[in-house]
Amino acid sequence: MSDLKLRVLIPASEIQQRIEELARKISADYSGRSVLLIGILKGACFFLADLARALTIPARIDFAGISSYGQGTVSSNQVKLTKDIELCIEGMDVLIVEDIVDSGVTLTYLCDLLAKRRPKSIRIAALLEKPERRRQPVEIHYLGFQIPNEFVVGFGLDYAEDYRNLRDICVLEQ
Ligand code: IMP
Ligand code: MG
Repeated sequence: MSDLKLRVLIPASEIQQRIEELARKISADYSGRSVLLIGILKGACFFLADLARALTIPARIDFAGISSYGQGTVSSNQVKLTKDIELCIEGMDVLIVEDIVDSGVTLTYLCDLLAKRRPKSIRIAALLEKPERRRQPVEIHYLGFQIPNEFVVGFGLDYAEDYRNLRDICVLEQ
């Protein structure tokens, strides 16, 4: 087995502080309305859980599963829906909640798919983005942190399904 090391990039306290800031902004922007949060499994589970509880507006919660073909630390170009949402989104204000925007392929695919179901609006909240790696343009309305082009794990993010339960976001190094 290769020797992998973890280096803390964003400590848990900073993640929590930033999520509270994002929740304040979202609550103000959607003031007087309710929002339907759609988390992308599995990476967004902790971000969604913390964000949802910090909101001061009513929120509904649903999840979509999307997987890219292939494994490893590089996103592939092709994605497929592995679990559809359960709620009807017609006429709803939808906020997609994602762990990290890398190439942009996942979110482009999901936004196109959900737009066909005639929601009132679709916005994106992403905890992290790697702007250097963008291949498809994605407008992120609520962004936690921009990070350099390094592979990160923790706070929901995995490497081959490991490390999701770390409290901090860490760079995985050889
Ligand atoms: P995109 O479709 O290339 O934007 O990829 C987004 C998905 O790739 C994310 O939802 C993650 O599941 C995965 N991903 C991209 N970068 C990382 C990373 O640094 N660590 C863990 N997963 C990542
Ligand atoms: Mg993901």
